[in-house]
Amino acid sequence: MATLELIDIAKRFSKNVWGVKKMDLEVEEKEFIVLLGPSGCGKTTTMRMIAGLEEVTRGTILLEGKDITDIPTRDRGISMVFQNYAIWPHMSVYENIAFSLKLRRMPGNEIKARVQKTADMVKIGNLLKRLPGQLSGGQQQRVALARALAVEPKLFLMDEPLSNLDAKLRVIMRTELKAIHQQTQATSIFVTHDQSEAMSMADRIVIMKDGKIVQIGTPDEVYFKSANIFVAGFIGTPPSNFFTVKCSVENGGISLQHPNFTLTVDPHEFKELQEYRNKDIIIGARPEDILIVPKESAAFTEKVLVVEPQGSHQVVAFKLNERIVKMIVSPEIKVRPNDTIGLAFNVQRLHFFDSNTEKRIPLGREEL
Ligand SMILES: Nc1ncnc2c1ncn2[C@@H]1O[C@H](COP(=O)(O)OP(=O)(O)O)[C@@H](O)[C@H]1O
Ligand SMILES: [Mg+2]
Repeated sequence: MATLELIDIAKRFSKNVWGVKKMDLEVEEKEFIVLLGPSGCGKTTTMRMIAGLEEVTRGTILLEGKDITDIPTRDRGISMVFQNYAIWPHMSVYENIAFSLKLRRMPGNEIKARVQKTADMVKIGNLLKRLPGQLSGGQQQRVALARALAVEPKLFLMDEPLSNLDAKLRVIMRTELKAIHQQTQATSIFVTHDQSEAMSMADRIVIMKDGKIVQIGTPDEVYFKSANIFVAGFIGTPPSNFFTVKCSVENGGISLQHPNFTLTVDPHEFKELQEYRNKDIIIGARPEDILIVPKESAAFTEKVLVVEPQGSHQVVAFKLNERIVKMIVSPEIKVRPNDTIGLAFNVQRLHFFDSNTEKRIPLGREEL
């Protein structure tokens, strides 16, 4: 039995405003699920419906098999942490964490032990006597996390909890949160609009757009088997590069023609592409799947536009047919603006999309 089931839930705010159009999702016990999508796609609305802060317009929510759709927030057994820390300013850190435990009439010595254990886990065990005003933003968010985790909820919801922290602290906190999850195994749903945060933390990512789910999958699945052009462009930095090519099948060979290059692919390995004979296909190429090669073996040559060193790698950009293409290159390769370089694709890793539906063309070879 899944811990949480969302069955066809939707939220309509007014006649033409839908917060969520349709969501179906099963969250397994101990899972760390990330809802990812651009601003306004319905992530917060989804979380608020799960928490009971927003009534559903349609659909059913099951928690541990029990219908909680119309149950008040406080009786759901769910804890939440939001972007703004929302801890009580007049209470000490200890009192903030202990508050819900007292409401549950937990014996005093157990409360003490639980507060200390949870506070230690989020590294504020030495700050219990302080007031929130005497803490940094990052420390306040740790208090909010401890307060939510201390009750050992059936489900732990976090809506952009790291968004108010500076970039460096965010990256530290995501690692810590993941480690905390490995320790507590609390079934969690985490919201972010930051794809890198989602990739690094999630067991499974739920990618949303316009109030609907566009793909659910592990970080590897959404990266290597993006369901459509939107996902391929949203996941990964720099994002995928897209090329429209014409597919032709000649003498049993498949050739994909772009104004600047022609790719020939194996007709058996890529047999699904044969159905696109004389039609357009959109190729999605990740920046690491475009390669600098000797000019003799190149699919095409281009002039380097800019080189962006990143230390561990460099991003090399060139223009193809008026569009900027970005590739990731090892720092050992010496390239400079205006150099003419030979380029090729890692064909095995390319994504192919139907130019009408923008959906992935599934290739049988991928299931091998
Ligand atoms: N209380 C509300 N009243 C009317 N519209 C709302 C309300 N809350 C959210 N919306 C709208 O619903 C959509 C989804 O919002 P939200 O769930 O906050 O998105 P996200 O968290 O992904 O940025 C947006 O178009 C937003 O303007
Ligand atoms: Mg939001």
